[in-house]
Order: sequence, then C-alpha cells, then structure tokens
Amino acid sequence: MPEKYPLIKVTPPGPKAEAILEKDSKYISPSSARAYPLVVKRAKGVMVEDVDGNRYLDFTSGVAVCNTGHCHPAVVKAIAQQAKELLHMSGADFFNPLQIELAQKLDEACPGPSPKRVFFSNSGAESVETALKLVRYHTKRPLVIAFANAFHGRTMGALSLTGSKPVQRKGFSPLVPGVIHVPYAYCYRCPYGVTHPREELACIRWIEEELFKTYVPPEEVAAVFVEPIQGEGGYIVPPKAFIKDLSTLCKKYGILLVADEVQSGMGRTGKMLAIEHFDAVPDVICLAKGIASGLPLGATVAREEIMDWPPGAHASTFGGNPLSSRAALVTLELLKRGLVENAAKIGSYLLEELNKLLPRHPLIGEVRGKGLMIGIELVKDKETKERAGEERETVVKRAFQKGLLLLGCGKNTIRFAPPLTITKKDADTALSIFDEALRAVGKGK
Ligand SMILES: Cc1ncc(COP(=O)(O)O)c(C=O)c1O
Repeated sequence: MPEKYPLIKVTPPGPKAEAILEKDSKYISPSSARAYPLVVKRAKGVMVEDVDGNRYLDFTSGVAVCNTGHCHPAVVKAIAQQAKELLHMSGADFFNPLQIELAQKLDEACPGPSPKRVFFSNSGAESVETALKLVRYHTKRPLVIAFANAFHGRTMGALSLTGSKPVQRKGFSPLVPGVIHVPYAYCYRCPYGVTHPREELACIRWIEEELFKTYVPPEEVAAVFVEPIQGEGGYIVPPKAFIKDLSTLCKKYGILLVADEVQSGMGRTGKMLAIEHFDAVPDVICLAKGIASGLPLGATVAREEIMDWPPGAHASTFGGNPLSSRAALVTLELLKRGLVENAAKIGSYLLEELNKLLPRHPLIGEVRGKGLMIGIELVKDKETKERAGEERETVVKRAFQKGLLLLGCGKNTIRFAPPLTITKKDADTALSIFDEALRAVGKGK
C-alpha cells in the first residue's frame, strides 16, 4: 500500500512506465491529451503509486472523481459484496431496488422541493445529454443557452454546449443546433471590461437587454445550462449575484435552469452541491464524476413535473448498474458523515495559504475557489494579466517530478482538486512542492 508521503525513486517515466507508454502510443486512440507520463499501478486515499514504485500525492482525485479518496475501504467492501450478489440486470427493462434507494437519497441531497426524479446513466456527458433532451421535451422550446468557457462533455449534444477549447469542437460540426453561447461571469477577465461589485451584472443584463431583444426570443429558450463554478474552463468562481440573477431571469421567462455539477458536485466545494453557495435552486441537476467514488455513474435529477417524458423516450442499458449504485450509496453516506465538512475546512486553509503565495510569486495572477475546488491562474505579468500558458505546463510537470499530481484547466490555470479526505499535513506537503515548482519556473521569492 502506498505510504502517506510522496517519494520519487526513479525520474518518471521510469523503465516500466516507458514500456507501457510505447504500447499506449500503438494501441490507444491518440485523442486524449495527457499532461505528463503517469502510469498508475495502485492508489489508496490521497496517494498514488506508479508502475516503477514512485509515490505521488494526488491533487487531481483522478479528475475530481475519487472524492472519498482512492479505494475507500467502505466503498471497496460494498462493491465486493455487491459483486457476489448481482452485477447487472438493466434498469432500462427491469426494476432495480438499489437505483430506487439511490434516487431517494439524491432527492434528499439535492436542493429544491421533493419529490424529484432521477435518470441514471454512466458519465457526465450522458447526464448532460439527458438534461438536454429532457428540457427540450418538457418545454417544447428549441433553443438553449450555455456559456463561453463551459465544459459539459464531448458527446454530440454535450459538445454543442461545451465552449472551452477549439480543439474539442474542431472537425465535428455540424453540432446540435439551437445552442447560444454567452459570456460567463469571469470577473478576473471581465468580458465587458467592468468591475464588480455593481448593482447589476453586465453579463446578466446583456442576456436580457441584448440577446432577448435582438435575435433570441426568450419564449423559445428551453433552458440555461450553467456550471455554478466553471471546471475545465478554468475553475472560475462567479460572484454570488451571477447565479442568483440568472435563476431570477430564468423564472421570469419560464426558462429552466440546469446546473451542471458534474465536477463541482458531491461535496467538492464544501457543500454537497456548488449551487448551494449561490442561494439558487436549479430545475435540473447533472451529476457524475464524484458520485460513485470511481465507478461510472451519471445522474440527472429533475423536479417531478419536469421529468414528464413517457416510457421509451430515454433509457440506458448500464445506467445506474448495481455496482455503481451501491458505490454511490456508500459515497453519499461518507460525504454526509464528515467529508463535505472537511472539504470546507481544509479548502479554506489551502485558499488562505495559496493567497500568501500570491505576493511572493510573479506568476500567480489570481487564487480562487470554494472548498477543495481551487484554481490558481498564472500570468506573465500581474498588471497586463498576459496568460502564462507554457509556464503553467512547466509548473504542472515540475510538480509531477517532485511527487505532486496537479492538472491544468482553462488556458493558464492550475487546479487543486484533491480527495475530500485530505489532512492539513497533506495540504502543507502539496503547498511546499507547489511553491518549489513555482519558484523554479517563475523566479518567485
Ligand atoms: C462540468 C462537467 N460536465 C460534464 C463533463 C463530462 O463528464 P464525462 O467526462 O464523465 O463525460 C465534465 C468532465 O470533465 C465536466 O467537468
């Protein structure tokens, strides 16, 4: 089992990793963009061990999935027990008691009036696809609004909502028609060049005063899809008024508010769902990633009256399979029994400490986040805010070589998304490696 501190025995990639990378380049689709050559053998808690015996502190959680830590013993035990009893029978054609129990727990865990209904799938993209079909079906309206920098997945419907990197869309058009992208409240780089706080947010006013009064009739808009905190687009935290005013605007025009909580949900931000930070209640919620501690599961949660489609309208063979549902039930319990709280506590500590690094490092432009969803935006110059994209790549690689797993997001941001189980000591270890990596690249103090 990996021990509780990073240890680099051979500079990665070591010989065993090299052999696997060569095979990967022969047999695996080249469409995934890997930041560094990590070949994982096993993992436990916050530690990951590679095939050459190097140990890393994982501040990615396998991309915001292992919120309960890698291979949490309670999750592993529950999966093992379930595997002996039932692996599959398909909720699409038969009844699955575990799915029903999980749906009830999600109804209780998600904001908004009960009862809600849940559709289970296998991934984030599928949970978004489900929401897209549902809002069109329910409202009979053809258009949807999404945001610049948004990431909602890569299947055709989800990709049509995604607006974070050209490479994700290039070559795949025509996409699903009827999606209108508008600027997000990225206040560090305000698309309208104004400074918050103001009485009214320019990005909300623009939707109502320009979009709705020029080329998008609001009565044809089925829904607004929003990440309460943008993930892949750069861990961007909007002001509280943004989500709240968006919700008010949606209500005014009978538009549904869909919160994509695939990355920000399941306790990551120090609340069960990120939208709870913003005093708004969405009509539909998309969940995946952290919901089942590493097993594939997507869930689309909607108010009862919205999920009004008939039998046959939508289904999934594997969605909510017994193993994933069982893992999700245990995950929810673990989150409720302390992990969400820990994310809030250690997250505040990390934010505070990262903000202390800010004046010492010319590379750090902004530190932002909630709980353990923290973004550090790197710039070449604090005044001009010129993006330090290459430097970001180098810092992430340096941290990897020193035993800290990080990932980028957006064009020039580094994300901290560790398991919600981390201790203050884990946070201090990560901070010291990060500080060292920044100093090596950016000549900070
Ligand atoms: C907010 C958000 N929505 C949807 C997705 C797509 O999830 P998946 O990769 O499981 O399809 C992601 C993945 O990063 C995401 O961050």
